Amino acid sequence: MHTFLWGTATASYQIEGAANEDGRVPSIWDTFSHEPGRTRDGHTGDVACDHYHRWPEDVALMKELGVNAYRFSVAWPRVMGGPAGLDFYERLVDALLDAGITPTPTLFHWDLPQELQDLGGWLNRDTAHRFADYAAQVAARLADRVSTWITLNEPFAHTIEGHALGVHAPGQALMLDSLPVAHHQLLAHGLAVPALRAAGAEQVWITQNCSPAWAATPADQAAADAYSTLHNWLFNDPVLLGRYPDLSAFGVEPDFVRDGDLEIISAPIDGLGINYYNPTLLGSPTGDGLPFDLLEITGYPTTSFGWPVVPDGLRELLVSFKDRYGAALPPVYITENGCSSDEPLDDQDRVAFLEGHLTALDQARAEGVDVRGYFVWSLLDNFEWAEGYHQRFGLVHVDFETQRRTPKASYHWFRKYLADR
Ligand code: FCB
Repeated sequence: MHTFLWGTATASYQIEGAANEDGRVPSIWDTFSHEPGRTRDGHTGDVACDHYHRWPEDVALMKELGVNAYRFSVAWPRVMGGPAGLDFYERLVDALLDAGITPTPTLFHWDLPQELQDLGGWLNRDTAHRFADYAAQVAARLADRVSTWITLNEPFAHTIEGHALGVHAPGQALMLDSLPVAHHQLLAHGLAVPALRAAGAEQVWITQNCSPAWAATPADQAAADAYSTLHNWLFNDPVLLGRYPDLSAFGVEPDFVRDGDLEIISAPIDGLGINYYNPTLLGSPTGDGLPFDLLEITGYPTTSFGWPVVPDGLRELLVSFKDRYGAALPPVYITENGCSSDEPLDDQDRVAFLEGHLTALDQARAEGVDVRGYFVWSLLDNFEWAEGYHQRFGLVHVDFETQRRTPKASYHWFRKYLADR
């Protein structure tokens, strides 16, 4: 029997700060956030939650919360910057293990070293090989203590926000010309799987963000299907089925795919990480060249970010994955789920959000989906990318002036929920 993993999730650039310490080299997010107009109020991750120095307190908060797992990300720029980088993660991993918390590191959560971006970043196929080398380097140091590894976080979001729309680093607005970025990330994942196993990894997962695609009317079903192809199947089919979905609705030929790539990308994995936030509503295209129109979902509560709160979307999504992939679907881990709230401490809206989604998770399991873990996004209020410090996702409030951490109502609620389970 496996132990269900209950955790919280964070990411290096969003919490660590210490951007110029101990040899860390710049990442694309350092560059991007320091460019005028890229993030709200010009916020950067220079200091963030200062987790690089305050990690013992953060580990203690998790221990008190009662989680048995922690999903964090390893900053490639820190590892590239010299030995102090891996020393940091080694200290963190040892402290987690001492606290009875299973470390589940993600190797890439969007903070690509700027020097690799200068060589073309994810548009350059060679970045995939560089990633596999880096994965092997980190695992060589830590796989004696870390059994579970996540290769990438949300290649969809990194492709679309970062390279199609340009609202995230590296700020490229290439629209569908960004598709090689998707493929090279998937190739990076596939190359990393055997590299991690060779270093002793027992479990290798990838984390995808996924969204049920809803047609606004029955006449919009083709638009919803096209959107689902882009958001869900383009990233999961190659990994789980060894093929790309039909991209003809987009008028693109995946000519960047070379012989043998799909065999590499579909190396068997031990878990699929799914990040779920909300469904997406689609209408038929009105003419910007894409085969769908994004519409606003109404009739549901919304988070501070304006995202609709649809707990049953999680059940719907998981069941749709079971239906599509059948025996090819590995055990599923919800590697992120949570909401932003302006409520500093008495965040009853987040309590309701979590309660609703955990109920939906139980329903999906009752419908036969093999879910084996759930990680709340996030432990701490943190640097929410283009939104800077304006969207607060934490179970723990962070005063960014003083770095004081204060558990919110949702932290106390989740603690009781875990104790009762
Ligand atoms: C996800 C990201 C994570 C966080 C949440 C709100 O897409 O993986 O870093 O920003 O959204």
